[in-house]
Amino acid sequence: MRLIRLLLFLAVVAAFAASIPAFFPSLIWQMPKAGADLATADAARGAYLFAMAGCAGCHTRKGGTPLAGGREIASPFGVFVSPNITPDAATGIGGWTEADFIRAMTLGLSPDERHYYPAFPYVSYTRMTPDDLRDLWAYLKTIPPVTGRTGGHRLAFPYSFRPGLGLWKLLFLEPGRYRPDPGKSRNWNRGAYIVTGPAHCGECHTRRNILGGLRNSVRLAGAPDYGDGKTKIGGAPNITPHKAKGIGGWSLEEIVFALQTGVTPAGDVLGGEMEEVVTNVTSKLTDADRRTIAEYLRSVPPKALE
Ligand code: HEC
Ligand code: HEC
Repeated sequence: MRLIRLLLFLAVVAAFAASIPAFFPSLIWQMPKAGADLATADAARGAYLFAMAGCAGCHTRKGGTPLAGGREIASPFGVFVSPNITPDAATGIGGWTEADFIRAMTLGLSPDERHYYPAFPYVSYTRMTPDDLRDLWAYLKTIPPVTGRTGGHRLAFPYSFRPGLGLWKLLFLEPGRYRPDPGKSRNWNRGAYIVTGPAHCGECHTRRNILGGLRNSVRLAGAPDYGDGKTKIGGAPNITPHKAKGIGGWSLEEIVFALQTGVTPAGDVLGGEMEEVVTNVTSKLTDADRRTIAEYLRSVPPKALE
């Protein structure tokens, strides 16, 4: 009986999932027309956004060819294996259009309408502006294609059931680009955009609920270790300006310095996953962008987890 009920539930979820684009009519405007003027997209700007968004880290196996995938990402739901996102037509995304790419990044949908797992942080990338996404796409097309399919994810049931992600997205994906706050400065808005969008800082620094959705009430207030429960990969600390639990004691300059060099005000060197973020992402940003990040971090509500 329980199995039948579960199957019925999954069938409903699948039906939901199939109709998901219909739930986001507001996004239709954001979709560029197929083959829209790629000529105006700027691959050099795209290279900068590519660093800011940390694509290479997840899509490159340790010691492997850049973006050929195969990196294993442990989670409580099982192990995700990142795909090849080089422009190889058969095993990468060489056959994609710009519109396919923007849909994947903003709606978590593949060209053949399969839902992506949020291990691909589209919950954050959906905040990116259409212009930035187009420049990023222009850059991705310039990298050398690599042939090679990566292994599939190793997930336990029911997480292995992809259509179930349709329901997950209804609950936890708020699609749509970042909307600047007109009451705030240009720099603040730039920082808010970088942190919540391309740089996806909250994907690690925000606690998740049992279904893996981000708990926005404690945004950036830190998260425990979400490894597979066996390998310790270390949690991410509180980066709100909470005096005792967060980085409320850090000056703006100290935050900027830590993002540039990985060295904290106490003289520690940031390790674990943040070491990679500093090397691949924050050290590669302009000083002006690092400052906007610091300005924004110092302005978010100070929160402490119990
Ligand atoms: C935190 C790790 C992570 C980061 C960062 C990340 N990805 Fe991914 N990405 C994944 C995983 C895991 C998948 C597979 C999702 C699935 O199978 O549902 C994926 C899937 C994709 C796909 C779909 C590929 C296909 O064959 O269907 C594209 C395209 C993609 N990522 C592009 C990017 C780009 C561009 C960036 C940077 C802006 C990026 N990813 C950053 C983990 C990541
Ligand atoms: C892939 C996961 C991940 C991402 C993405 C990430 N961080 Fe971190 N961050 C960590 C971890 C883990 C640590 C703890 C490192 C340590 O203790 O050595 C950390 C530490 C930090 C610290 C030091 C805090 C302290 O109290 O020592 C700051 C500041 C920080 N991150 C800011 C950011 C910003 C800003 C972003 C976005 C640009 C970001 N992080 C993105 C995982 C991440």
